[in-house]
Amino acid sequence: MTQILYISSSLSGSAGQSTQLADRYIAKRQDRGDDVAIIRRDLHADPVPHLDGERFAAFTTPAAERSEAQREVAAFSDQLIDELRRADEIVIALPMYNMGVPSTFKAWIDHVARAGETFRYTANGPQGLLEDKAVTVLAARGGMYAGTPQDSQTQYVKDILGLMGLTQVDFIYAEGLNMGDEQAQPAIHDAQQQIDRRAA
Ligand SMILES: Cc1cc2nc3c(=O)[nH]c(=O)nc-3n(C[C@H](O)[C@H](O)[C@H](O)COP(=O)(O)O)c2cc1C
Repeated sequence: MTQILYISSSLSGSAGQSTQLADRYIAKRQDRGDDVAIIRRDLHADPVPHLDGERFAAFTTPAAERSEAQREVAAFSDQLIDELRRADEIVIALPMYNMGVPSTFKAWIDHVARAGETFRYTANGPQGLLEDKAVTVLAARGGMYAGTPQDSQTQYVKDILGLMGLTQVDFIYAEGLNMGDEQAQPAIHDAQQQIDRRAA
């Protein structure tokens, strides 16, 4: 059985362009006839709290010394990390909001990028501790950024996933979605075709 961790964060929920593209990828993977199980993490419907000092202290306090509240915080983060470990493949539906990743996605990152769990510091810099696996990012944007210095998302997502050991990260972009139908429709069509090829 193949386990796919499917992470989404559109504030439009299932109507989001990124969600729809990721839904298509998942459906096509299931159509292939493989035995696929989906681990769903909808960060809009079920947001991860912002990382604050108290939550971070829960991560850094040794397990045996944690208070009850700290145990709960650490257990929640452990669960999110366990989803990453269990997955054979990861699919991320990623809207661009205000030139960056959705804050809900960043809050999730802040709960899974944990020293000693998903990466560790060494004399040669950080080393990823997750087993490498394929990550597909379905990136929906109102404007056009891919391949330009304004695309702050692509490098950031590759860097932070790479920090944890996930280096096989591929983006499929649907761009110019707020630039009129003449731009948006072909962009969505092109993304759909790339999705179908990747899922086949
Ligand atoms: C709050 C907000 C901020 C946005 N900021 C940007 C932006 O900085 N750059 C951009 O290209 N599009 C921006 N957009 C447009 C979205 O990227 C576009 O609507 C895309 O479809 C969002 O993905 P979704 O439909 O999956 O939510 C923004 C949309 C919203 C709602």
